[in-house]
Amino acid sequence: MNKITVIGAGNVGATVANVIAHKDLCRELVLVDIKEGLAEGKALDIWQAGPINHFNTKVVGVTNDYLRTKGSGVVVITSGLPRKPGMSRDDLIKTNALIVKEVTEKVIKYSPEAIIIVVSNPLDVMTYAAWKAAAKSHSKVFGMAGILDTGRYKTFIANALDVSPKDVHGLLLGGHGDTMVPLPRYTSVNGIPITDLLGKDEIDKIVERTRKGGGELVNLMGTSAWYAPGAAAAQMVEAIVDDQRRVFPVSAYLNGEFGLKDVFVGVPVKLGRNGIEEIIEIKLNEEEMKMLHESAKAVKELMNALDDMKIFDE
Ligand code: NAI
Ligand code: 2OP
Repeated sequence: MNKITVIGAGNVGATVANVIAHKDLCRELVLVDIKEGLAEGKALDIWQAGPINHFNTKVVGVTNDYLRTKGSGVVVITSGLPRKPGMSRDDLIKTNALIVKEVTEKVIKYSPEAIIIVVSNPLDVMTYAAWKAAAKSHSKVFGMAGILDTGRYKTFIANALDVSPKDVHGLLLGGHGDTMVPLPRYTSVNGIPITDLLGKDEIDKIVERTRKGGGELVNLMGTSAWYAPGAAAAQMVEAIVDDQRRVFPVSAYLNGEFGLKDVFVGVPVKLGRNGIEEIIEIKLNEEEMKMLHESAKAVKELMNALDDMKIFDE
């Protein structure tokens, strides 16, 4: 790909940029921030790792100069405030929606064909905000959370079983919040169901720790995570750039799938050159479906709250 843009050069944005550059996913990577010098500095630092780690990608940082992002094929939006201790993802809604709206409008002006991956929180609602601001097809605007949450889930399972995390496969649905729905029934160690390997209590504990996984890190560090989030967003970029058709949980707009309509929520999708190539409607039992609907309801309430703020009405 010729150009990829990452907006927000904070902890997550700089990490996504670093992983994308190391994977050599584009000729030029543009990092944008509002803070004078921050994106320029971080971009230069990442770029100077090229001769050491042998990548070709040129990494450029700019302060609010969207002309420099012109012609980007993929844009990752990480701008916004991270969660502080005691702050829920939802407290962030208005501040971050205004930021997401502003940056999306600016970036889309110069890259109307770009696929947009949203990372800013509260994730599912910010994805909705970016979609509204971009006025693009749903298949081109979606959010990153499921790969991160599944990453946490798989890490805890690998640890409990003392197996390689590479061999743990699993799926997780729902909004990026405490209502997310890890699916033990769809989780295995290279095909061996984890329900055969771990007791119910142990699985329940892992599910609970996964649901609170973001908060666990906020409490430890005083700000939210970035290494795994950055790796997760870059994995989505890679699937698009290389048209890999990888199946990931992604915050996607649903139009009747899983009995849900007009809501952005985490579901398995096939990611390729065109963004979301397909939403994969897996079979859920009654309990799983109920949990997914509860999670979607929580997201929908925030989407309605965002609508009530009328920031998209001018
Ligand atoms: P950070 O504070 O380190 O970085 C955010 C950056 O955005 C700052 O450098 C800031 O100057 C910049 N920014 C603010 N307004 C801007 C604007 N109008 N234009 C351009 N840049 C602007 O925060 P961090 O840790 O990188 O987190 C970023 C966002 O990602 C937060 O909303 C956080 O909650 C979210 N997040 C989401 C995850 C997910 O799974 N979806 C995981 C981790 C974080
Ligand atoms: C996370 O899950 C806070 O959304 C962020 O790490």
